[in-house]
Amino acid sequence: MNALKYLKIAGVLILIGLTACRGQRSKVPPIHPNMNMDQQNRVEAQEENRFFSDNRAMRQPVDGTIARGELQQDKAMFQGINEDSSFVSENPLELTKKLLLRGQDQYNVFCTPCHGITGDGQGILVTGQYGLVPPPSYHIDRLRNVNDGYLYSVITNGIRTMQPYAHQIPVKDRWAIVGYIRALQKSQNVPESEIQQYDIDLASMKEEAQQKLAQDKAKKEAAEAASAGAEVTAAKGKQLAQTNACTACHSADGSELVGPSWKNLYGYEREMQDGTTVIADEEYLTESIVNANAKTVAGYPEGAMANFDYLSSNDIKNIIAYIKSLSDRELEESSDTTSNN
Ligand code: HEC
Ligand code: HEC
Repeated sequence: MNALKYLKIAGVLILIGLTACRGQRSKVPPIHPNMNMDQQNRVEAQEENRFFSDNRAMRQPVDGTIARGELQQDKAMFQGINEDSSFVSENPLELTKKLLLRGQDQYNVFCTPCHGITGDGQGILVTGQYGLVPPPSYHIDRLRNVNDGYLYSVITNGIRTMQPYAHQIPVKDRWAIVGYIRALQKSQNVPESEIQQYDIDLASMKEEAQQKLAQDKAKKEAAEAASAGAEVTAAKGKQLAQTNACTACHSADGSELVGPSWKNLYGYEREMQDGTTVIADEEYLTESIVNANAKTVAGYPEGAMANFDYLSSNDIKNIIAYIKSLSDRELEESSDTTSNN
């Protein structure tokens, strides 16, 4: 009988003991029967430490030393440049199939969202509902003719509105991507004489391409017909300039972004890179939007702006109405742009 009584009391005590451990604060560290090496003196990141004259616990690397594996003496490999700082013309890595497959893999991960699977600049972030800045296609002459080192530098350092990837993509993978971009460029620009060497049914490929063109054209015409006659307003144009990311590169207040400001653009004389001048009328503005590389404004990067040929003519009229509203000048023009259709 007695034994049972003691057992009951012990049980109650254990229960009380357990509840007492819950939710209570204690200044004493928990009991830690086996210390292993769990608690030692050490300094935390950013902690003060009076031992050093600058009172910082975190130390700079010792002058003149380089951590193992961090030696980056090879300028061609790490910066993509020669001794005279010009871009290297060729990939320092050997272009094996393995490297290109690695490049394809990494390109698909990091670049397709904006540049698209084929490098045409029509990735999902651009054409979808996200409205990110459209990059230029890789299949324009200017980008076909740049050096491998230039492409490497764009990935490493970014360019204008494109962010750098040095922290996300290791050096060898960057070169693998460069190799793959070259393969993409080649794939979209093979002369017919070369294709004939391979066992490829060129006629049916051409037919397919033509069908696709016809489909695209029909789609565009349907969109045109749907929007024709809709009222043209500067307010709609402002909205379109935002959703199509024009505003990432063009300001409305005269400040300089990647491209020229739209303030006092319409009606003014524009100087081109080739020395000619053009009056910024509706025709010039339309061309600047749908065929952006036809002319380049003096002092601005060539080919930075993609061709916005997917905009409907009604969209373009709205945008031009908006650009007009930002100018203090007016031109005698056919009233076509401001009226319906
Ligand atoms: C978030 C979107 C985005 C991603 C992701 C992206 N880019 Fe770009 N890229 C851009 C934009 C926007 C431009 C045009 C920048 C400008 O001219 O302001 C551009 C331009 C370029 C250019 C052309 C530079 C020139 O001279 O006009 C190259 C080459 C390029 N990107 C390579 C890459 C590679 C390689 C990757 C993947 C590692 C990548 N980009 C990932 C948005 C992106
Ligand atoms: C990635 C940056 C970028 C984006 C996005 C962009 N542009 Fe541009 N745009 C430029 C640059 C750079 C120039 C000047 C060089 C040139 O003429 O190609 C320019 C020139 C122009 C011009 C001629 C301006 C002048 O001063 O003569 C017009 C008009 C224009 N852009 C309209 C647009 C419209 C409309 C959109 C959106 C649908 C747009 N741009 C998106 C970079 C951009």
